[in-house]
Amino acid sequence: MSVWNERYNTDKYIYGTVPNDFLVQVATYLPAGRILSLAAGEGRNEVYLAQQGYAVTAVDSSAVGLAKAQRLAAAQGVSIITVTADLTTYPIASATWHGIVSIFCHVPSAARRAMLARVVAGLVPGGVFVLEAYTPRQLERGTGGPPDRDRLITLAALQAELQGLAFIIGQEIERDIREGHYHNGRSEVVQVVARKPATVD
Ligand SMILES: C[S@@+](CC[C@H](N)C(=O)[O-])C[C@H]1O[C@@H](n2cnc3c(N)ncnc32)[C@H](O)[C@@H]1O
Repeated sequence: MSVWNERYNTDKYIYGTVPNDFLVQVATYLPAGRILSLAAGEGRNEVYLAQQGYAVTAVDSSAVGLAKAQRLAAAQGVSIITVTADLTTYPIASATWHGIVSIFCHVPSAARRAMLARVVAGLVPGGVFVLEAYTPRQLERGTGGPPDRDRLITLAALQAELQGLAFIIGQEIERDIREGHYHNGRSEVVQVVARKPATVD
């Protein structure tokens, strides 16, 4: 069983059932319509977005996590689509998504660059990308996130990798995170809200 499947193999929601703070703060930037959520895990953010009226597709490599996401959705009376897939190769459909959301999705940097190119292509004109992730400064904190620098993300990297999007929010900040057992304490994160320009008539 994969590390993530093992981690999720408990009745408890290890990242909680409450949505990510930053997502809640910026959700109104997301236009109505279809949202693709990357690394959805146990579904707390996707259920929240479905409750706001979005049509949500949740991708993660952990079938165990996504089964919990479906249980959470059913318990909250909403429906979401779940797709078990490896995001390093997942072919994001072009010009399809009104929003793409990435909350604590940390893949190796080379794969991330390719994935973010697919994210930019995947947004419709006017579509919005929302991301929160740990930065390399988080390595000194020990309050969550991957232990290797290559998977941690800087704002400078995102500015380079999200060419074609206009940044509305782009910041590295320190904040308190209380989002389950594994994300708990003072933390170093990068936060982005970026929009694909609408086409000019
Ligand atoms: C820290 S959890 C975050 C889960 C969720 N976004 C949240 O905030 O509660 C990271 C997630 O990334 C997923 N993940 C890691 N590498 C992946 C990959 N290559 N493809 C798809 N999912 C991946 C894991 O399965 C895990 O669910």
